[in-house]
Amino acid sequence: MHPDDELCLCFHVTWRKVINFARIHRIRRASQLSGCQGAGTGCGWCRRQLERIATRIAEDPPDPSELDNWLQRHSPARDAYARGRQQYLASGKGNPPSGGEEKSAEPPQEDPSDPAE
Ligand code: FES
Repeated sequence: MHPDDELCLCFHVTWRKVINFARIHRIRRASQLSGCQGAGTGCGWCRRQLERIATRIAEDPPDPSELDNWLQRHSPARDAYARGRQQYLASGKGNPPSGGEEKSAEPPQEDPSDPAE
């Protein structure tokens, strides 16, 4: 992951924002990260990552100048993470917030049955 990739895909909250929020507010529980633009309060997919990141920050606080390297050690691959969320939603385990803009890891597919083509 890159620091500006989204950790919470429902609310488009980046890893950098979550990590900075955690450091500045010296969070003690992952649930406090919901104060960072609502992270984790949509479909629920990112909650496990929020818990992991809160634990990692407590155990191995990131140096802001080394955030890229720190994220390489403590975050999943971006595409696998986004695909995992799509599967999570498809299985009915969570619902994105209403009116929320969905972002896909893959470009939209053309509908071959679309008469406009
Ligand atoms: S991805 Fe964070 S709540 Fe859905």
